[in-house]
Amino acid sequence: MTFNQKEINQLIRLRRSIFPKDYTGESVPEAVVNQMLENANWAPTHKFTEPWRFTVFTGAGLKTLAAFQSECYKQVTTADGTFREDRYLGLQSKPLEASHIIAIGMKRDEGNRLPEWEELGAVFCAVQNMYLTATAYGIGCYLSTGGITNFEEAKSFFGLGAEDKLCGFMFVGMPKGNVPDGRRNPIEKKVTWVTD
Ligand SMILES: Cc1cc2nc3c(=O)[nH]c(=O)nc-3n(C[C@H](O)[C@H](O)[C@H](O)COP(=O)(O)O)c2cc1C
Repeated sequence: MTFNQKEINQLIRLRRSIFPKDYTGESVPEAVVNQMLENANWAPTHKFTEPWRFTVFTGAGLKTLAAFQSECYKQVTTADGTFREDRYLGLQSKPLEASHIIAIGMKRDEGNRLPEWEELGAVFCAVQNMYLTATAYGIGCYLSTGGITNFEEAKSFFGLGAEDKLCGFMFVGMPKGNVPDGRRNPIEKKVTWVTD
């Protein structure tokens, strides 16, 4: 099997986070979402724990997510005094701008054979596979780790237990077409070569 290296380099470098303001409102074909999920499942995984778990919201399901996350936010933040009306309204409205939202979970291995950071590493490799697949099909997506991501109270809604983690939400939508420029500092600043 040979691969087109030039295209793969371009796919990786031209992959961008595309946010809901840049979605057309059209539906993303389910076949593409299924490819994103299938490719996510091929992420590297130490000891084959395959810790990634996904809950896909689409159609009326987006309203279900919007209602759940805004009420969860309200309950938790009213109790601890950090409630903000603008955030509450955003959690109610933002999901409706996406075609699909994929909640990303990390399920701990029953035998607890790996440290948590390794399981999270595998989950974020799966997220990158989704990002790249979306890019290859001309679909927009971005990972959100705001809102209720860090709320313990949110986990059970996504089938996650106390030891598991909610890792964020992959927003998916048809892009308007204006892919933003990427920016990174040079790799040379981040690599040390040892040659003797
Ligand atoms: C672990 C992780 C969490 C992220 N969480 C958010 C987020 O909560 N909100 C957001 O706007 N973007 C989030 N992003 C997307 C970044 O904003 C985006 O990757 C960054 O701006 C670089 O742009 P690019 O993905 O187009 O290269 C997250 C990305 C990663 C890897």
